[in-house]
Amino acid sequence: MKTIAILNQKGGVGKTTLTINLAYALQQDGYKVLIVDSDPQGSARDWNNETEGAILPVVGLDRASLATDIKAVTSGYDFVIIDGAPQLSTHMAAAVKCADIVLIPVKPSSLDLWASSDLVAIIKQRQEIGADLKAAFIVSQAINNTNLANEVSEVLKEYQLQALDTKIVNRVSYPDSISNGKTVFHTTDKKAQNEINQIKQELLQWH
Ligand SMILES: Nc1ncnc2c1ncn2[C@@H]1O[C@H](COP(=O)(O)OP(=O)(O)OP(=O)(O)O)[C@@H](O)[C@H]1O
Ligand SMILES: [Mg+2]
Repeated sequence: MKTIAILNQKGGVGKTTLTINLAYALQQDGYKVLIVDSDPQGSARDWNNETEGAILPVVGLDRASLATDIKAVTSGYDFVIIDGAPQLSTHMAAAVKCADIVLIPVKPSSLDLWASSDLVAIIKQRQEIGADLKAAFIVSQAINNTNLANEVSEVLKEYQLQALDTKIVNRVSYPDSISNGKTVFHTTDKKAQNEINQIKQELLQWH
């Protein structure tokens, strides 16, 4: 079992959107996947309620005791994906503790990258004490043809963390599908489906 935590203390960067779509893509490959909603706002649970749980199992564990609580629910799953809570640093640290992989969605700007410095520090601490923890940024809500790439790569170098090759582009199919309790795989947007599948492939190659 692998636990992937999708974290960023900054709100609205695409954590829940990536959680749901990546979980679905992995499930389509035949893996057993559980979403853990660690956000007291309960966005992933709201999404799940739209279809009365027909698409993916979602469980809410939204206390700082996440690292303990999660042990009771993950048996039998191949992948557990934790949807991170914004602002709550205790929840974020608990999610890092559970994770084999941390993905940090960021909008493509240096300012947004700097906002994740606390999370990067927590990840580095875990790695320094020998935890087998991988972490990467993933550019989210990218507008094609922006020339922010260089600016962002400088910050990444300072953080000494990698970024996935695949970025998530700003596309209406993401909010449209989520608001119906669905995913981009339930739409005709092949470009969105392809980018989520490529992200999945990058992660599977990490094993
Ligand atoms: N790739 C995308 N293209 C277009 N809209 C997007 C994309 N990703 C996310 N959004 C929209 O941006 C908003 C924030 O996304 P989301 O809820 O996934 O972020 P979040 O990090 O989980 O937010 P929070 O911190 O509040 O939990 C939502 O309205 C969502 O539909
Ligand atoms: Mg969210």
